[in-house]
Amino acid sequence: MSSKLTRPSDLFGMKAIKVPPYTKSAAIYDHMMRIVNYPGWVRYLLNLIKIANRSLVQRSSRPNLQLLELACGTGNMSLILAKKGYRVIGIDGSSEMLYIANSKAKRMHLSSIQFIESDILSFKTDSKFDIVLCCYDSLNYLEGINSLGILFNKVNQCLKPNGVFIFDLSMENNSLYDASMFDQKGKQNGTFYHRKSYYEQSSKTHKTYIRIFRNGELFEEVHSEYIYTLSEVRERYLSAGFKEIGAFGDFTYLPATEKSDRIHFVLTNKQ
Ligand SMILES: C[S@@+](CC[C@H](N)C(=O)[O-])C[C@H]1O[C@@H](n2cnc3c(N)ncnc32)[C@H](O)[C@@H]1O
Repeated sequence: MSSKLTRPSDLFGMKAIKVPPYTKSAAIYDHMMRIVNYPGWVRYLLNLIKIANRSLVQRSSRPNLQLLELACGTGNMSLILAKKGYRVIGIDGSSEMLYIANSKAKRMHLSSIQFIESDILSFKTDSKFDIVLCCYDSLNYLEGINSLGILFNKVNQCLKPNGVFIFDLSMENNSLYDASMFDQKGKQNGTFYHRKSYYEQSSKTHKTYIRIFRNGELFEEVHSEYIYTLSEVRERYLSAGFKEIGAFGDFTYLPATEKSDRIHFVLTNKQ
């Protein structure tokens, strides 16, 4: 099944100004994601880390542990993890998303967190990390399986021995049966938005159009997410030298399959 291309309706009959992803939408990102249970998601991630290396989740050790969140966005996961005691660095390519993340960290008086603007394929850091995370479709934004390979090599270089790398991917089933039906309208602080998704099965590209009306102007962001198979992703991280602790389907602790909607991959560099 594949949905028809349906861009958001011509809001207000205006011509939309095209802007890059996560620029104009940054200000409404948390409103769009308000139904996402981030604390529950972080609890799941901590359980996955525990399966890989129990010592990395013990409360007493957390202030000594360095955690990197790639594509941290507005910091929803990073901030929870910093509050739980981890020393966190969050990296994202969008200065607008990081502006929100920094404002929230300031409001929460969190000093154990730092946000850095960079592409996740070319970030530079002198630190080595105990835990690296990259969640909520972020790696679906990388175009082409070779880019995933580059990212896996990069993460492997900055992970401490016995470190844990967890990432998730939204899979084709999700695009075919759930996300392609997605159509959300909302309003926050005088900003109106309309978000609509469409899956092109032939190119395995999941597109989301976001139209944002603010201060008399209409903007449009087009987000492209690329869909990969479990087997091609697995082949890439194994050849990057990772050992697989597990690939877990749909927020369970059961092995994922090609039919899972979302997979969390739990990897280690332990030999
Ligand atoms: C769906 S959001 C997820 C944000 C966050 N992880 C969360 O859970 O809310 C995807 C994020 O990936 C970032 N992103 C996508 N491609 C990137 C790249 N190549 N380098 C850096 N950030 C990237 C975007 O800026 C955006 O903040």
